[in-house]
Amino acid sequence: MSGRRIYLSPPHMGAEERQLLLEAFDSNWISTVGPQVNAFESEFAALLPGTHAAALSSGTAALHLALVLVGVGRDDDVLCSDLTFAASANAIIYQGARPVFIDSDRATWNMDPALLAEELDERSRRGRLPKAVIAVDLYGQCADHDPIVSACARHEVPLIEDAAEALGADYRGRPAGSFGALSVFSFNGNKIITTSGGGMLVSPREDWIARARGLASQARDPVPHYEHSAIGYNYRLSNLLAAIGRAQLRRLADRVARRRAINVFYRAALADLDGIEFMPEAPYGRSTCWLTCLTVDAARFGATAEQIRAHMASLDIEARNVWKPMHLQPVFQGLPIRGGAVSEDLFARGLCLPSGSNLTQDDLDRIVDAFRAVVRRAS
Ligand SMILES: Cc1ncc(COP(=O)(O)O)c(C=O)c1O
Repeated sequence: MSGRRIYLSPPHMGAEERQLLLEAFDSNWISTVGPQVNAFESEFAALLPGTHAAALSSGTAALHLALVLVGVGRDDDVLCSDLTFAASANAIIYQGARPVFIDSDRATWNMDPALLAEELDERSRRGRLPKAVIAVDLYGQCADHDPIVSACARHEVPLIEDAAEALGADYRGRPAGSFGALSVFSFNGNKIITTSGGGMLVSPREDWIARARGLASQARDPVPHYEHSAIGYNYRLSNLLAAIGRAQLRRLADRVARRRAINVFYRAALADLDGIEFMPEAPYGRSTCWLTCLTVDAARFGATAEQIRAHMASLDIEARNVWKPMHLQPVFQGLPIRGGAVSEDLFARGLCLPSGSNLTQDDLDRIVDAFRAVVRRAS
């Protein structure tokens, strides 16, 4: 060991987070109602012109409510990015519906819009359109939303944008989260900003967001006694956590700049190594580089991505595999997949490097030294 443990993407807190949290505590609004929640929602919505926002207990809760709001129910099909975190697909199962996975485009690692259009066109001919599409913005980079939005619009299938990993990214000048009928963000501890745990559901439709707030508060009807005409959930964000979120949001531009700078550093520091290819930044937008990811050609590099990960782990540096595709997950075995070879390859050869905005230059040097040592050991 040569110092403290380096995590993949740890929380990055400051004095303002602490101060707003204590103010919220002292105000005694410590549950899921209060001025911090309201302010967090309106400040968040202001980042995405023309949208409204509901603060929730997690990104997963936001995905679940998005599916409820577009009417996904038992035995419906929902098309979903194959290369993602399981939460994207889990929410489909919560509704008793069936995920159908769509492979990635190698140029962006995100959902391949041509495969999505093929799947929708074919299903339209068979009269079996899905009830929704979930397109994920992976590792801080937006999916190619123009063709995705138009394919969905052509078949009148609502798009849910899972922007959990991409707050602060943009696509053709518009922010991540602008493209879905409903869009989802996460403030989980590893995200670019965090509330410890939390999420946001956004939509241009104010009525949907109002309904989401109701559903997230156990769907109580507006009468003095406890009356329920719908099944509700306990999904609201705590006012304490919203206070942290407001302070974090004020730092978002700095956090994006820092993560992008870390990406630039890695690209330069590993540029001379054979067989290393970074996740491409698509020309249509600006990634936050939430995580810096790369693929390893073991024959040229001299070691596999897994050997690099294991060596780093032995030095107390947390690197991670790229998401294991949903169609390879035991829990989703047997579900349909269109394509699949690209996501399988990215999983087999992919690696995510520590990317937290609070990494120091010493940390970064240590990570690069560890990475380069794998080549020396292998040769
Ligand atoms: C793509 C994606 N979707 C959904 C989620 C779920 O968000 P949460 O952890 O806030 O429930 C995450 C991350 O955690 C994610 O990476």
